[in-house]
This record gives sequence, C-alpha cells and structure tokens, in this order.
Amino acid sequence: MDEKIRSDFPVLNREGKPIIYLDSACQTLRPNQVIDKINEYYKEYPACGGRSLHKLGKMVDEKVIESRKRMQKFIGAKKSEEVIFTKNTTEGINIILNSLSLKSGDAVITTDKEHNSVLLPVQFLAKRKGIEHKITKSNDDGTFNLDKFQELLTPEVKLVSVVHTSNIDGFTNPAKEIVKAAHDNGSLVLLDGAQSVPHKEVDVKKLDVDFLAFSGHKMCGPSGTGILYGKYDLLKNMEPIFVGGETVSNSTYTTSEMENPPERFEPGLQNYAGMVGLAEAARYLQKIGMDKIQRHDVELNKYLTENARDLGLQILGPSDPGLRSGVFSFNIKGLDPHEIAIMLDHTNNIAVRSGMHCVHSWFNENEIKGSVRASMYFYNTKEEIETFISTLKEIIKLR
Ligand code: ALA
Repeated sequence: MDEKIRSDFPVLNREGKPIIYLDSACQTLRPNQVIDKINEYYKEYPACGGRSLHKLGKMVDEKVIESRKRMQKFIGAKKSEEVIFTKNTTEGINIILNSLSLKSGDAVITTDKEHNSVLLPVQFLAKRKGIEHKITKSNDDGTFNLDKFQELLTPEVKLVSVVHTSNIDGFTNPAKEIVKAAHDNGSLVLLDGAQSVPHKEVDVKKLDVDFLAFSGHKMCGPSGTGILYGKYDLLKNMEPIFVGGETVSNSTYTTSEMENPPERFEPGLQNYAGMVGLAEAARYLQKIGMDKIQRHDVELNKYLTENARDLGLQILGPSDPGLRSGVFSFNIKGLDPHEIAIMLDHTNNIAVRSGMHCVHSWFNENEIKGSVRASMYFYNTKEEIETFISTLKEIIKLR
C-alpha cells in the first residue's frame, strides 16, 4: 500500500514518536474521509430521519437511503431492505437469536471458537427457553472440521450460528460449505462477519447465508455502528425484540401494526452520523479494493511469521500464515501476555491486544491463559513489522 493511504489517517501522522497500530481486529483507525462525513451530518443536516417533513429531515432521509444502498452493494445483498443498521455485531446477533422464536426442543449449533457475542445469547436461550446448544469442535490447529459439524446436523437444529473469521487466530471457516450442509438439513445460518467483512469480499448472495452481522468500527467506520443482513422473506416473518418509534406504522392503546423490514428492526432515533460515516467507510474500502486489502493482510502476516520464526513464539492457529488473515496471535514462554503488551506499548508505541479476546470459553477449554494478538490492516507496513519483531527480541532477552 502506498504512503498516500497512510496520510488519510490522522493518528499515523501525528507529531512525535510514531504509533505502530496492530490492534485492528479490535478496532481500526479511521481515515479523514470518514471523520469528515460524520462531521458533515452534524454541520449540515443534524436532524432526525423518517419523521419530520422539513428540508433538513428530508436530507437525512436521502442520506440514509443512500447509505443503506451503499452497504447493500458492499455485501452483495439483493435489496437494500435486507440491510438493518445496528450499533455493532453483538446487537445484530442478539436480534436474530432472540427474534427467531426458538423454543424448547430446538437446537442451535455454534463452533468452539465463538466470541461471547454469540456464545452468551445462545447460553441464555438454553437457560431461558430450553434450547439445546451443540458445539462443533475445531481441529487442533484451529481449522474447521466439516465432518464433525455434519454429524451434529439433526432435524432439531434450527440455526447454525458460526464465526466466519476467528478473532483468536484469524482462520476463516468455510462458510459456503457450512451453509450448504446446514440448508440441506433445513437449518438457517447466521454468520458472525465481524472479522471477515472488513478484510475480504463477503458476498451474501454467493454464500447464500441467511443472516450476517458485522461492525463498523472494525472496517474504518464510526464506533457504535454495525450492519445486520437478513434475507427479506425471513426478516418479514420475524418479530423484533426491540420495539418502539418507527417500528410500527400504526398503533392503538391495545394493538400495533408492524412496519416492514428494515424499519421494523430499527427502533427509536438512529445514529444518522454513524450511518453516513459507515457508508463512507465502505466506499473507502471498496475504492482500495477488498482483494487488495486481503492480499496485503496475508502478505504482512507471512512476512511477520517468517521473520519471527527464530523467536520460539507459540503461535495460535494454523502454521500457514496464509490461513490466518491479518491475525498473529502468540505467546512467549515464561511471560504473561498482558506484560508483553504493556512492554510493546511502553518501549515502542506498539499497540496490540492481550488476554482472551472475549473468547474466554476457548482459552479456558484449552487451558491457555490468553495470548498477545497483533492484528494487521492495509495501513500497516513491513517497516512496522520489523520494529515489532526487533522489540519482541528485546523483550525476550529480558525474560
Ligand atoms: N472482538 C474484538 C476483538 O477481538 C473486540 O478484539
């Protein structure tokens, strides 16, 4: 990637010692284009959408329609009504899991590497409604085991809710094969795209996935934004969990008529600045090219893996960095992951995440205390990776 792209990110160009930002799996940096779009809303049309008939209100409506269409294009959805604005992946997943009318005797399959955003809503459904939670186990190197998964597909399985790209090790589960097997069994599929959508082309039509949830803040978009995609006919037959203003077309003291999707799932005043900012982020990424972004992430991960070979790190996930997207998750024997993260930050302004990455269940099951996770994106460079490796070498010497 060229320097021009880095110049779009204020934090990469601030005075003083540079920041080496390797925490994009948690939250990415935002380019000026997105920041300007957010400000554009507050400066030029800071009104509410879907309600008021004045000019500013109409402008918001137009911008929301435009933004929804941009997001539709970004994920290849058939129509923009299939795109619901949310506040993050977690909200999208909760909406689907709780709006599907699952009942006692139904089963839901997840993988053993789900983020708490999937695990917790499924656990709660199991406790409150008596649904069965089946967990499909990954292979030892973190790759997906299709045979084991298929063995779990019984008639009771109404939903398969799986992570697409893992935030622990960067491995991308074979969504197409999972969807095909689930559909052959009559089960729906909800894909957690938080770590995949920002890093590669994810086309809901090509995957034939029923639902997809992802976040804006992991794809250069504003905090507190996300998208929930659902096939229109499915959304149309679902009752939302959150209701209120704009989710209904009419009401009496005792009755109400539900709006159609997407409004049905967008209660109350919305984050309009977030919507336009998120659409701008999608435009920005598409301009660079999702294939180019994916190639860059993998290239950096290969470079890092090869050059860190002699450091004796315990790397999580497949040994082939080509299968780990932009995620490099590791441990150093004898050192606590949080200690390493703090030392990286203090010595050379290197930002990584450490701990269990909201997937406590997997770490507990595998009796691992946590990991240090360096996660890369298109604005990272080989020079930054070199500094990261040389700093790790210094830290190891201190052990
Ligand atoms: N899910 C985010 C991460 O992995 C927060 O860091």
